Amino acid sequence: MIVFNFDFYNPTRIIFGKDRLGELDQLVPAGARVLVTYGGGSVKKYGTLDKVKAALGGREVYEFGGIEPNPKYNTLSKAVEVVRENNIDFLLAVGGGSVMDGTKFIAAAAPYKGEPVNLLKIGLSKVKAAIPLGTVVTLPATGSEMNNGCVITHEDKKFPYFSKLLFPQFSILDPTLTFTLPPEQVANGIVDTWVHTCEQYVTYPAEGRLQDRMAEGILQTLIEVGKKTIDNPTDYDARANLVWCATMGLNGLIAVGVPQDWTAHMIGHELTAMFGIDHGKTLAILQPSIWKVLKEHKHAKLLQYAERVWQITGGDEASRIDLAISKTRDFFESLGIKTHLADYNVNADKINDIVKALEKHGLTALSETRKVTLAVSRQILEGAM
Ligand code: NZQ
Ligand code: ZN
Repeated sequence: MIVFNFDFYNPTRIIFGKDRLGELDQLVPAGARVLVTYGGGSVKKYGTLDKVKAALGGREVYEFGGIEPNPKYNTLSKAVEVVRENNIDFLLAVGGGSVMDGTKFIAAAAPYKGEPVNLLKIGLSKVKAAIPLGTVVTLPATGSEMNNGCVITHEDKKFPYFSKLLFPQFSILDPTLTFTLPPEQVANGIVDTWVHTCEQYVTYPAEGRLQDRMAEGILQTLIEVGKKTIDNPTDYDARANLVWCATMGLNGLIAVGVPQDWTAHMIGHELTAMFGIDHGKTLAILQPSIWKVLKEHKHAKLLQYAERVWQITGGDEASRIDLAISKTRDFFESLGIKTHLADYNVNADKINDIVKALEKHGLTALSETRKVTLAVSRQILEGAM
């Protein structure tokens, strides 16, 4: 028997489609004291915040703006004060992954009796209470709208945290709210979704046949709509497909019963923390190099990926895998995303510092086999130059 045992739990209600913001009135408890959280201002500029506030009707509504990309503990701790001072009992995140993640941290930190900063050390899985939250998604990428994770930055560390109390109660996915995204952010979101999917798929065979087919379906859909939705941002059907791929890429469904390899994410977080490179771009830099270095461990799944995602069936096995890796790089580049560290002015003399940061943060045995030691991470970074 190969098939793994698994649990699956996901309580988030998805409200998908155009013009559904008005339904916030039924989704947020009547009489709730609501804190609406948002980022640097895009939701104000494009009118989403006004629509959200109108839909919340006569409820007591507070606002907290300024949650930055790669949300920082210091910013979020100010929101925690607002929640405590005003007895907020519902949080509504309006934005992309950073706003959703930041809001999850606020939800866990506000009821916590100790200093919130301690939660970054002990993790969120032990929190006993969290303020309920919902989201209105403006950027398809992270899947945060339907999962229980959040990635928080404090000092030199960017790290993921999880708690079963942090699934949003609901998420509104209106593809039209994403039409205003700059092409670069759409491309980041496509790469993020791609790499999430691969990290739950390109590992070793585990008889997760349906999960594999779902992962391949997401990747094939991204190939079909990726470039199209960047070139035609208001093509509703293309964008709607991207939005749903992003959610399905990291809501736990394709993860059940299969090995997972989060190497690209964990090294990528260091690149963001050290050099400010956008999350999606760090993944585009690392993914091809990771596969080159780990070709032997991932041989069977890389062959499957080559055949089923890229229809590569000719030639010997090694050349099929090489071609699949180069097609992946070409796909990222076709979206306008550069795939080499040097493209971001990070040169080989920085590799030592990156490896030191991995060591400091305990990231010394990554991947589905835990065989990505610091020496292997160094090879991956050298290959990403
Ligand atoms: O801040 P505003 O002004 O809103 O502008 C944002 C931001 O500058 C802008 N934007 C968002 N929606 C827009 C828009 N601009 C115009 N029109 C719209 N509709 O886009 C910029 C980037 O936003 P951000 O939320 O930072 O991007 P993303 O959704 O890619 O989130 C990245 C964060 O999520 C974490 C990443 O590490 C990073 O911190 N992740 C969270 C995960 C999770 N919770 O499961 C998993 C992911 O792997 C990822 O690590
Ligand atoms: Zn990601």
